[in-house]
Amino acid sequence: MKNKKTTVYDCSIIELNKHHANEGNLTVVENNKTIPFEVKRLYYLYDVPGGESRGGHAHKKLQQLITAASGSFSVVLDDGEVKRTVTLNHPYEGLLIVPGIWRDLVDFSSGSVLLCLASEKYDETDYIRNYEEFKKYKES
Ligand code: TYD
Repeated sequence: MKNKKTTVYDCSIIELNKHHANEGNLTVVENNKTIPFEVKRLYYLYDVPGGESRGGHAHKKLQQLITAASGSFSVVLDDGEVKRTVTLNHPYEGLLIVPGIWRDLVDFSSGSVLLCLASEKYDETDYIRNYEEFKKYKES
């Protein structure tokens, strides 16, 4: 199964466009153009206390583009064998997370906003929330 075999190296930073003006900057993300999927859902995390961590799960099917709309945080990607930490601290950069990757969100700066564009509607059955279960999923 393809999603069971994904690695942290399949996840990539996408440099988003930046329309610069004296009045501020603007970044656009377009379905199937900027990102390789169609956005079905958007959510954002905010009011995370400085230094706090979240996440601790994987998805079987979901693809996501995660950006730091404000502030910074790090994403620890884990494919069951290799861990890779990516720090996001620019609104014009997005991290594409493919299915089958365990992620922990760490080191939120105070006042940061994590914006997530997701390829699927919310589906709790798509989550793997137990790390041992994730390891078995990747090995199966
Ligand atoms: P969760 O994905 O567990 O966030 P984290 O892993 O960062 O702690 O989501 C937290 C809660 O929000 C959980 O009760 C499910 C709910 N939720 C939705 O109802 N819809 C969504 O699209 C998302 C992302 C979460």
